[in-house]
Amino acid sequence: MTSIRFGLAVLAVLGAALADKKACGNLQVINEGAPAGKFVNVSGIQTYISRPSTNTTTAILHVTDIFGVPLLENQLLADSMAQAGYLTVMPDLFRGESIPVDAIEKGVNITAFLAKHPTSDVDSIIASTISYMRKDLGMTKIGGTGYCFGGKYVPRFLAEGKGLDAGFIAHPGFLETSEIMAIAKPITMAAGELDDTFNATARHAAEAILQSKNATYQLNLYSGAPHGFAVRPNLSVPRQKYAKDASYFQAVRWFEAWL
Ligand SMILES: *[C@@H]1O[C@H](CO)[C@@H](O)[C@H](O)[C@H]1NC(C)=O
Ligand SMILES: *[C@@H]1O[C@H](CO)[C@@H](O)[C@H](O)[C@H]1NC(C)=O
Ligand SMILES: *[C@@H]1O[C@H](CO)[C@@H](O)[C@H](O)[C@H]1NC(C)=O
Ligand SMILES: *[C@@H]1O[C@H](CO)[C@@H](O)[C@H](O)[C@H]1NC(C)=O
Ligand SMILES: *[C@@H]1O[C@H](CO)[C@@H](O)[C@H](O)[C@H]1NC(C)=O
Ligand SMILES: *[C@@H]1O[C@H](CO)[C@@H](O)[C@H](O)[C@H]1NC(C)=O
Repeated sequence: MTSIRFGLAVLAVLGAALADKKACGNLQVINEGAPAGKFVNVSGIQTYISRPSTNTTTAILHVTDIFGVPLLENQLLADSMAQAGYLTVMPDLFRGESIPVDAIEKGVNITAFLAKHPTSDVDSIIASTISYMRKDLGMTKIGGTGYCFGGKYVPRFLAEGKGLDAGFIAHPGFLETSEIMAIAKPITMAAGELDDTFNATARHAAEAILQSKNATYQLNLYSGAPHGFAVRPNLSVPRQKYAKDASYFQAVRWFEAWL
């Protein structure tokens, strides 16, 4: 009798372990389907919020590329981080004026776009979103994910006292030496072999700075990955599909360890 009970207990424990493993194994970056989050008007900024299935006080701030909050891939990436257990918040950095994907083919004046959305304005939206996350949503730890345009801002907010506790950036644009120098929290970077923006020169420079600072960092290079791969890869190209998937897990593992 005792041994049968013991056997059942062992089976129950094994079953629970298997269920956990399955849940963990099911975790993956979401590339299609309907978004699970909701837009909230936070002091005039449309903010996409995706909630995990359980209550948490640990959150992710998703800082977008120029395609912004309307892009399905951005909403699904936020949902993917929520699926990993983080309350994920993605503010509209461009006040309703993000660039539609089809506009890129027609040609966009990026200089004019950047002039309309200067660093000071984007900084102020991010600072007020972090404050909203801590004060209104009750978050105690906040990680940042930044893609392309957003890859400049996560480092800015990883500086001492700026409000992010750990960060992940992919194929950053416009990232400056002084911004990398000021990073004071753990950061992981995803770089693409074919990215002309965060190219080998920029990558090696970033690596040298982080190393000289004795920063807690990681820098992964993905073969065959073009600019934008962590958000909008061509999913029918195996190297690009892999790079998006693996960079998502790179972020998840980083936050598991350092957030
Ligand atoms: C968002 O809220 C602000 C006040 O915080 C208000 O002025 C604005 O009209 C609202 N926008 C939308 C689209 O609801
Ligand atoms: C989350 O917390 C809130 C407030 O503390 C509570 O009302 C709610 O039931 C909790 N939800 C879950 C899924 O635990
Ligand atoms: C792009 O915008 C800038 C600043 O508004 C302007 O000076 C420049 O002429 C524009 N370039 C083109 C190709 O329209
Ligand atoms: C990277 O880009 C910079 C700026 O455009 C350029 O000076 C540098 O030569 C490039 N490096 C490589 C390896 O292409
Ligand atoms: C680098 O940082 C680690 C972790 O904080 C610390 O243990 C180590 O002593 C530091 N190394 C140097 C050379 O400062
Ligand atoms: C994606 O890659 C496939 C296979 O190489 C190619 O046929 C297709 O044109 C690409 N799609 C886009 C939008 O570039």
